[in-house]
Amino acid sequence: MRTFVYFSQSARTSGNFDVKNLMDAGRLDIAMHVIINAFFLSHALRDDVALHLVFYGMPDPPKHIEIRVTKETSLSKKDTATLIKKILYKYRPGKKTEAMPGCFVEKKSFLQVIAELEKEGKKVFILDKTGENIRKADLTEESVFVIGDQDGLPKKELKRLKKIAKKISIGPNVYFASQVVSVINNEMDMRGV
Ligand SMILES: C[S@@+](CC[C@H](N)C(=O)[O-])C[C@H]1O[C@@H](n2cnc3c(N)ncnc32)[C@H](O)[C@@H]1O
Repeated sequence: MRTFVYFSQSARTSGNFDVKNLMDAGRLDIAMHVIINAFFLSHALRDDVALHLVFYGMPDPPKHIEIRVTKETSLSKKDTATLIKKILYKYRPGKKTEAMPGCFVEKKSFLQVIAELEKEGKKVFILDKTGENIRKADLTEESVFVIGDQDGLPKKELKRLKKIAKKISIGPNVYFASQVVSVINNEMDMRGV
């Protein structure tokens, strides 16, 4: 299962946001693009992807949302914002809640999410323009790709992360987080991983 972790310092952490104005919901628009590029193919959904969204915005940070496609998952490209709204409304303190099939929500920090993935034996990569060329990286289906928001990854956490994870780059430009997801999916597809 290839895994993406998208960190957002500003994304809203409760369901009371306007789905028609996602930029004002702490740039939730970026998270929606990440979801679309993580899971959607033409006429198909990827069931080999796990997406972890970690939101640090107001009013109740941090929130960890995990999404996988199961046989029962209903994902609509037009309605990813409503999906996130519903998931956030289903949050219950003190437990990991399955808000709907394949979609979970809990309170968990960015570093805790990464630590748990590492504990499962996964290999963590930080996506960074200055990293090693992705085409030379040793990627397996157990790879975890950590991607920052419009301002990148938070400095303090990044310092800790660098001790356990390698930086990899998809090219010389700074790309949108969602574009990074697409390129990684394509790289993994091309390798047959
Ligand atoms: C819009 S960029 C963030 C720009 C931010 N000003 C910065 O300097 O990090 C969003 C995220 O995409 C990833 N990213 C962007 N360009 C990349 C590249 N060329 N190689 C690898 N990752 C990249 C990084 O994880 C980054 O945090």
